[in-house]
Amino acid sequence: MAIVISTINLKGGVGKTTTTVGLAEMLTSEFGKKVLLVDLDPQTNATTMLIGEHKWKELNDEEYTLARLFKDALEPENSRFNLEKSLQRNVSNITVVENLDLIPSSIDLINIQDDLAKMPAGQFYANNPVEILKKAIRPIMDNYDYILIDCPPNMGIITLNGLRIADGYIIPTIPDVLSTYGIPQIIQRVNAFSNDIGKEIKVLGIVIAKYRDNSNLHRNTLARLKREVDAPLFNAVFKENNQMANAADYTVSYSTYRRKWGYGDQYNAFYRLAKEIQERFV
Ligand SMILES: Nc1ncnc2c1ncn2[C@@H]1O[C@H](COP(=O)(O)OP(=O)(O)OP(=O)(O)O)[C@@H](O)[C@H]1O
Ligand SMILES: [Mg+2]
Repeated sequence: MAIVISTINLKGGVGKTTTTVGLAEMLTSEFGKKVLLVDLDPQTNATTMLIGEHKWKELNDEEYTLARLFKDALEPENSRFNLEKSLQRNVSNITVVENLDLIPSSIDLINIQDDLAKMPAGQFYANNPVEILKKAIRPIMDNYDYILIDCPPNMGIITLNGLRIADGYIIPTIPDVLSTYGIPQIIQRVNAFSNDIGKEIKVLGIVIAKYRDNSNLHRNTLARLKREVDAPLFNAVFKENNQMANAADYTVSYSTYRRKWGYGDQYNAFYRLAKEIQERFV
């Protein structure tokens, strides 16, 4: 059975997608794992990082994205989510990355999320709205070692779908005041949700993104997180770095992991993160 890990932070732009995609590629290319990435964010950033804009548009036109899955919940008489066609196999612009699959997202999820939230509970009688994803991917979950879920920066129904099947979650953050502000709330809310559904969802840890050595604020925030927050900090720290930002461009292809994400610091950070995460589950 796959280990399912969600990436969450209520704050936008803190490295959630970068961390999720880099981790997925690391687990496949350097650890030989089979990984499924589920992109729950309507911004579709993980999707376009892994298959490009062009392919995404094609899939979106055919409704081979998660938008169709959630739409089905709104109009069950018109259900037509096609897992087989939506599942993109062997994605990534790194040649040596094999065994990384993707279920793509769609910008249409924005409206669908609002409609789902407005729906009276009775209408979901047979279909719990936080179990939509769980039911959909159940047939393929055993095909993977890890399922990584990139969540949007909110705790709406779509994100709860990602948490519903999660064994654990990671919280990427920039170590500054505003980015770390909501972390205790996230932990609290996930705990409450975990109690509701009667399933443990481990807080695996906080991932520091875009760290600047020369920033007192970053150093102090890191120390404060260690002291005050009820979640471990990963030893892996991602420094602010242009190559990390460039890795979002699908149009360039790379022969190896290091060529895409960088040698030295960045490679080591992703390697350590992947290792630390695996160790949390032994
Ligand atoms: N270590 C880094 N150094 C420099 N730029 C980075 C680094 N990590 C991420 N970025 C860039 O910062 C921006 C935000 O990162 P990312 O998209 O991963 O954040 P996010 O939390 O997923 O955002 P959103 O909430 O919008 O989904 C992106 O342009 C990304 O390429
Ligand atoms: Mg993102």
